[in-house]
Amino acid sequence: MTKRTRFIVAVTAMVAVTAFGLWAQEHVKLPGINSEDQHPNGCVDCHKISGGSDYRLNVSLREVAGHPAIDSIVNTLPDDCMMCHGSYAAKLNTITHTSHYANPEENHFVAYYGGQCLECHSIDVDTGKTDVKSGPKNW
Ligand code: HEC
Ligand code: HEC
Ligand code: HEC
Repeated sequence: MTKRTRFIVAVTAMVAVTAFGLWAQEHVKLPGINSEDQHPNGCVDCHKISGGSDYRLNVSLREVAGHPAIDSIVNTLPDDCMMCHGSYAAKLNTITHTSHYANPEENHFVAYYGGQCLECHSIDVDTGKTDVKSGPKNW
């Protein structure tokens, strides 16, 4: 390698590293960490009436065959889902992780919302403790 080639290689590498850094800075948005949390109440901040469609969970769960009506028994989400999904019904962690990450090319949570864990989870950066965000029902 000539001195000139080495110089060109070094400059190209530097430009590539800087470009990647800028790209990463622009693209990785961690809700509540390095960007504003648009959904601080978790589930109910996305599963609501929006753009003329009704995405509320009490409504969409009516399509799950045999699902108990939750309108009056669930007051805080997802906490109150746990009265059944923490005991005899399918576990809420696997239900929510599957529905939000399966078929990532088409899954609206990944493709449109960016798929961050921190859309549903919160983290206290001082103690390192994580939690699941929650909010009052929207029906
Ligand atoms: C950032 C927005 C967002 C948050 C927060 C969110 N969801 Fe979703 N959820 C979605 C989107 C978008 C879909 C549709 C995914 C797809 O394209 O299949 C979905 C799908 C679902 C489904 C499948 C049935 C349906 O209604 O389409 C369930 C059940 C569900 N979410 C429950 C929850 C629960 C419980 C929470 C809170 C622990 C939660 N979601 C938090 C955006 C969100
Ligand atoms: C009163 C009990 C009860 C409550 C409260 C409840 N569920 Fe369920 N849910 C069930 C039962 C029973 C089933 C069907 C059997 C199973 O999945 O274990 C079910 C099934 C589901 C399914 C389909 C599971 C699958 O494998 O396809 C989803 C999604 C679901 N529930 C989400 C929720 C969410 C989100 C909440 C809170 C907003 C909630 N449920 C509150 C009892 C409950
Ligand atoms: C759509 C909402 C949602 C998203 C997105 C989400 N989680 Fe969860 N997660 C939950 C819920 C609900 C629980 C169950 C909470 C409970 O049991 O009290 C849970 C539980 C967990 C737990 C506790 C252990 C377990 O499996 O029960 C871990 C660890 C976890 N999630 C990691 C993640 C990671 C890592 C990501 C991102 C790749 C993620 N979650 C994205 C909703 C979500």
